[in-house]
Amino acid sequence: MANSPPASWSAAQRWLHWLVAFGVLFDFALSWVMTRVGDNQALLKFALYQVHKNVGVFVLAAVLARLVMLACRGRPDLPADLSAMNKRLALIGHATLYALLVIVPVLGYLTNSTSPSRIPVLFLLAIPVPNLTPPSEAWYDLLVQLHRLTAIALFLTALAHALIAVIHHRRGSPILRHMWRG
Ligand code: HEM
Ligand code: HEM
Repeated sequence: MANSPPASWSAAQRWLHWLVAFGVLFDFALSWVMTRVGDNQALLKFALYQVHKNVGVFVLAAVLARLVMLACRGRPDLPADLSAMNKRLALIGHATLYALLVIVPVLGYLTNSTSPSRIPVLFLLAIPVPNLTPPSEAWYDLLVQLHRLTAIALFLTALAHALIAVIHHRRGSPILRHMWRG
C-alpha cells in the first residue's frame, strides 16, 4: 500500500472501474438472452455464449489489474465528513464487490470446464482456454446454480453501490466526480 493516499483515482483506475461495471452489466443481461435462445439456433447460441465467456474473462483480468493497482497505488481517502460507521460500511461494500467480481467469473469458468458438452472458451474468439477439470454432470449442475446465484448477488450489490454513490453525489459529495474525472 502507498504511504500516503493519492489525491484521486488514476486514469487507469477510473477506466478499469467503468469497463468492469459495463462488462458485469452487459454479461448479466446477455446471460438472460443466451440461455433462452433455442437449440434450433445453434450458431447464434454458440456465438452469444462465447461473447459471454469472453467478457467474463476480460472482467476477471481487469479486476485483478485493479487489485494490483489498489495494492501499489492505494485509493483516495473517503470524505472526512463521513461517519466512522459509514466508512466501515463503504469498506465492507467494496470488499464484497471485489470478492464477487473474482468469484463470479471463476465459477463461470468452472461451470464451463465441468460441462459435459465440453465447449471450449475461445478467448478473443481465437485462443482456446483449456478446461482444467474433467467433465462432471453432478459438479456442473451445482456450479451452474452457484454461478447464477453469485452473479445475482453481484448485480444486487452493484445496484446498491451505484445508488449510494448517486445519493452521496446529490448531497454534494465529490466521490462520484473523482471516479468520473479524477
Ligand atoms: C462478470 C462476469 C459474469 C457474469 C455477471 C455472469 C452471469 C451469468 C448468469 C446470471 C448466468 C445464468 C443465466 C440464466 O440461467 O438465466 C450465467 C450463465 C453462464 N455463464 Fe456466466 N457470468 C459471468 C462470467 C462467466 C465466465 C467467465 C464464464 C466462462 C468462462 C461464464 C460461463 C457461463 C456459462 C457456461 C453459463 C450457462 C450455463 C447454462 O447453460 O445454463 N460466465 N452467467
Ligand atoms: C457492476 C457495476 C459496478 C461495480 C462492480 C463497481 C465496483 C466498484 C468497486 C469494487 C469500487 C471500490 C474501489 C476501491 O475502493 O478500490 C468502486 C468504487 C466506486 N464506484 Fe463503482 N462499481 C459499479 C458501478 C458503479 C456505478 C454505476 C457508479 C455510479 C453511479 C459507481 C460509482 C463508484 C464510485 C463513486 C466509487 C468510489 C467510491 C469511493 O470513493 O469510495 N460504481 N466501484
